[in-house]
Amino acid sequence: MSTVLQARDLTRYYDVSQGFLKPSAQVKALNGVSFELRAGKTLAVVGESGCGKSTLARQLTLIEAPTSGSLLLDGQDAALAGKVALKAMRTKVQMVFQNPYASLNPRQKIGSQLAEPLLINTSLSAKEREEKVRGMMQRVGLRPEHFFRYPHMFSGGQRQRIAIARAMMLNPKIVVADEPTSALDVSIQAQVLNLFMDLQDEFKTAYVFISHNLSVVEHVADDLMVMYLGRAVEVGEKNRVYERPLHPYTQALLSATPSIHPEQRRIKIKIEGELPSPLKPPSGCAFHKRCPHANQRCAEEVPELRELDQRMIACHRAEEINA
Ligand SMILES: Nc1ncnc2c1ncn2[C@@H]1O[C@H](COP(=O)(O)OP(=O)(O)O)[C@@H](O)[C@H]1O
Ligand SMILES: [Mg+2]
Repeated sequence: MSTVLQARDLTRYYDVSQGFLKPSAQVKALNGVSFELRAGKTLAVVGESGCGKSTLARQLTLIEAPTSGSLLLDGQDAALAGKVALKAMRTKVQMVFQNPYASLNPRQKIGSQLAEPLLINTSLSAKEREEKVRGMMQRVGLRPEHFFRYPHMFSGGQRQRIAIARAMMLNPKIVVADEPTSALDVSIQAQVLNLFMDLQDEFKTAYVFISHNLSVVEHVADDLMVMYLGRAVEVGEKNRVYERPLHPYTQALLSATPSIHPEQRRIKIKIEGELPSPLKPPSGCAFHKRCPHANQRCAEEVPELRELDQRMIACHRAEEINA
């Protein structure tokens, strides 16, 4: 199975002002994340708001450069790529945002917005571009007359279809979708998720699918990465993790997710307290203050991601608590 994207120890810090005359501080938004994305498959990234998902998305789509760590896109190291190579790499990885309205130009007709990536990156004629755009519009469930309409004339679900069509125009190897259904009505969410899956079948695109909601990603994911405060705490094949989560944080998230494997629903595990600030992360395991199983070692020593039961997990006590 080939890999289209490989992140190694990807790290992104932000300097933030603490106020007048105070020294600036560092937010460790992304704190050493490693994973592989398989060609044509979907990796779901889940975790609470503020854990670094969007920061990860900005590194993967080359919108920002990481503070450290490396990113291999289709076998090519982004840090070593020159200007021209970087431009070519950017066409291989496209992004779909949570709010499609913000990512569309309100003053440009849909047809010409969809044609723009082709205009910039290919030598197709105007007629060929229009043909491709109309084909993609049909593919994502838009009607021919939509070609000449403006973004405000569409519903939220249709706008997300337009954003997805634009992401797909150059047939990218990878699409990074950051909470792409979170702003949509529940009734529309399933349609958009199905569209993602149909397009993946047809174009063999690999997805990094970001969500704070485990029930949203259950049906789209092949692999799963659970994040907590800028780090991955559990990474593995989705079915394996959903059936038997080993990290206490994954267990708590899944126990709070309705309708997933209700037959094997164990006792509900409540996560106490709020996600700590990445400005002042707790010592040791970042989850230890909210973890029902934490001991002294968890408060002192950062757990490394390691292999256990055919997945990767960062927890000192995984064996004991899952025995
Ligand atoms: N440009 C930035 N400057 C400073 N802090 C940032 C910036 N972007 C994100 N952060 C901080 O990094 C952390 C992770 O944010 P984000 O990646 O948006 O999380 P998520 O998408 O999971 O909600 C948050 O604490 C956020 O406040
Ligand atoms: Mg986000």
